[in-house]
Amino acid sequence: MSYYSDDVIDDIRSGNDIVDVVGEYVKLRRSGSSYVGLCPFHNEKTPSFHVHQDGQYYHCFGCGAGGNVIGFIMERENLSFVDSVKFLADRINYTLPEVSFSKDAQKKKELKQKLYDIHKIAARFYYDCLMSSEGRNAVEYLDKREVTLGARRKFGLGYSPIAKGALYNKLREEGFDDDAIIKSGLAYKRDDGTFYDKFFNRLMFPIIDVYGNIIGFGGRILGEGQPKYLNSPETDIFNKSRNLYNLNLAKQARKRELILVEGYMDAIAIYQAGFKNVVASLGTAFNENHSRVMKAYADSVILLFDSDEAGVKAVLRAIPVLTGAGLKVKVLQVTDAKDPDEFIKKFGAAAFGELLNNAKSHIIFRAEQIQKQYDLDNLEERIDFSKDIAKLMSEVNNSIEADAYLKEVSRITDIDLSAIQSEINKLNSGVTAVNNVNKRRNSNKKGIDGAREDIINIVMSDKRYYDIISRHLEPKELLEPFYIKVLEIIYSLYKNDKEVNTGTVLSCIETPEEQSKFTAIFVKRVKFDTDEVIKAINDIVKTIKTAYYDKLISDNYTSPDVSKLIESKRKVNNLYISLSDG
Ligand code: UTP
Ligand code: MN
Repeated sequence: MSYYSDDVIDDIRSGNDIVDVVGEYVKLRRSGSSYVGLCPFHNEKTPSFHVHQDGQYYHCFGCGAGGNVIGFIMERENLSFVDSVKFLADRINYTLPEVSFSKDAQKKKELKQKLYDIHKIAARFYYDCLMSSEGRNAVEYLDKREVTLGARRKFGLGYSPIAKGALYNKLREEGFDDDAIIKSGLAYKRDDGTFYDKFFNRLMFPIIDVYGNIIGFGGRILGEGQPKYLNSPETDIFNKSRNLYNLNLAKQARKRELILVEGYMDAIAIYQAGFKNVVASLGTAFNENHSRVMKAYADSVILLFDSDEAGVKAVLRAIPVLTGAGLKVKVLQVTDAKDPDEFIKKFGAAAFGELLNNAKSHIIFRAEQIQKQYDLDNLEERIDFSKDIAKLMSEVNNSIEADAYLKEVSRITDIDLSAIQSEINKLNSGVTAVNNVNKRRNSNKKGIDGAREDIINIVMSDKRYYDIISRHLEPKELLEPFYIKVLEIIYSLYKNDKEVNTGTVLSCIETPEEQSKFTAIFVKRVKFDTDEVIKAINDIVKTIKTAYYDKLISDNYTSPDVSKLIESKRKVNNLYISLSDG
């Protein structure tokens, strides 16, 4: 059906995070391990629409819609499979192998290319201005701020001249039309019909995406004045939530750890001090899109904001956003300097490296912030403080880690551990009770379809189960065409040494209807303990085989073969599957 290769489809799926894409249509909020919102496929008042980032699939418990990101676009935009792939490729600026685009898509693509070209020319223009006599003041400013020559080149810094239509004229000379120039955000038309540059007499910082395209600029005033920074507006190529300053260079450090700072100058100062894995947000509040982008390149993040009150607030806001994306978060505060840039100038790169090594867990940082709200000399406040800390600690899943944090907190605050611990225990026992009820409720609804769904989930969960189950169970024994197809897909993925998860299975299912059916199965999965699962496999396989032979027997009961079938059915009862079968 599709004429793109699996590799291309994989690129499209992995480049378009499902939470990102769905989030453009549905207001999502995080809830446990997934995101929920109001279903876009049926009318509802309470959200039952879930999006899972781990498995890259969505499912609505209300109407049963479900699938992967491609299925979502097919449904939502009412597009064919191929057009949905094109749609998503366009969204991430991915060049698909030669195929014919729709007229609109073609136009949009051409515009984007023009905007990239405009930015490239603009950056060159600003750089040349910096190097010319016009840029003298800007160079002086860079000298004063100790930006090295290497860094100036590396970051492509430039200067926007005082003549107010200088860039506009340059772009017209290069053959760009007014429409494209306006859409680039780098110039605008005034009421009298003349054109003005967005930036003039500023130090220019090109903003570059991870593919190396220049997509916007930040411009700093030379010296004092307002606004200190002016930034490009969002355009068809510049999304402030999906890009971070210096990510293009930071990703080359391949450290799986990123330092997140607030300002362009901080990023540059840290980079030139030898710490290349630094990024800055682009004059917008740090949000979930940013953290998802970071998650692609890092497992942990060091938050390094200004040490003022605004900085602390920004850190507290950023922490849940980052941990929500599954990132480990540490917090660093500079001492005796207002920001990292100033710190490095005062104390040098080595001292900064030391500081980095001492970044503390976000839990400890938050504990310190909580402490500031209480007067610990007052008994009542000490109790409230302990409760707050307990709540904080219940976020930590690893008990060894939690222990270490607790010790640290009780050391800092001089509060007895046992008081906090008993609060934590109270909180935790509530959580466990809820989980148990859910588990019991799940395991009660069974039946033949339940058995088929369970076996699909069990096979998917672990290659070892596939090894033993595939010896005893053929897909056709599931009887229902849809279940047969799904089990065949799973078996063949394993056989070909492919990874098996919702994502890879969904990518073999092309219609939204079948994607929905599959996701519905997957979301119903019951987690078995390891010692329960072998027993479950035996029970389920027997149920399925019995149903299979019953059907064959009833279809063939006048045929002479029926005795053989009855014999086969009888043997099902003697079947015993063990882990060593594999
Ligand atoms: P800072 O003022 O901390 O930036 O603002 P900085 O880079 O450290 O500035 P200097 O040059 O050392 O004084 C942090 C970030 O907030 C955005 C910019 O992205 C800046 O880098 N900002 C700040 C603006 O967009 N506009 C402003 O007027 C100020
Ligand atoms: Mn600064």
